[in-house]
Amino acid sequence: MFKIYKYIENSDNILIASPIYFNQLTGKLLDLCSRFQKYFFNIKPKQKKGAIILVSGGKSDPQKIYSLSTCILKQIGASNIFPLVGSFNTDIIPANQDSLALKNIEKLANFFNNKY
Ligand SMILES: Cc1cc2nc3c(=O)[nH]c(=O)nc-3n(C[C@H](O)[C@H](O)[C@H](O)COP(=O)(O)O)c2cc1C
Repeated sequence: MFKIYKYIENSDNILIASPIYFNQLTGKLLDLCSRFQKYFFNIKPKQKKGAIILVSGGKSDPQKIYSLSTCILKQIGASNIFPLVGSFNTDIIPANQDSLALKNIEKLANFFNNKY
């Protein structure tokens, strides 16, 4: 975790990227985020930009998960958060063929690179 805390404290951008499992972020990612407890109190990492990429098979509520993810990002200093990006029907259309998702990922990259 010390390596990860260092990234959180020094990064300009933080991206949460996760497949949706059981209509939630993955358990492994939630385990990791549970270790951000130290930021819930007095230690405030520097302000940064945040974004969230989610993928799901076809039965999910991505806005609910986006909302939870924005809470996590805010706790670690990201107040400027890009709108949800994702591919939500991968049972039918693989993410790498989802043209809307690919377009939005490009916009997200521009946001992180100060071009948006
Ligand atoms: C354990 C597990 C739980 C899943 N739960 C959901 C779900 O609740 N809703 C949904 O739409 N897709 C669900 N999926 C499908 C994945 O979100 C989907 O296949 C996604 O594309 C996985 O990304 P990946 O191919 O990068 O692993 C689940 C997949 C797994 C393995």
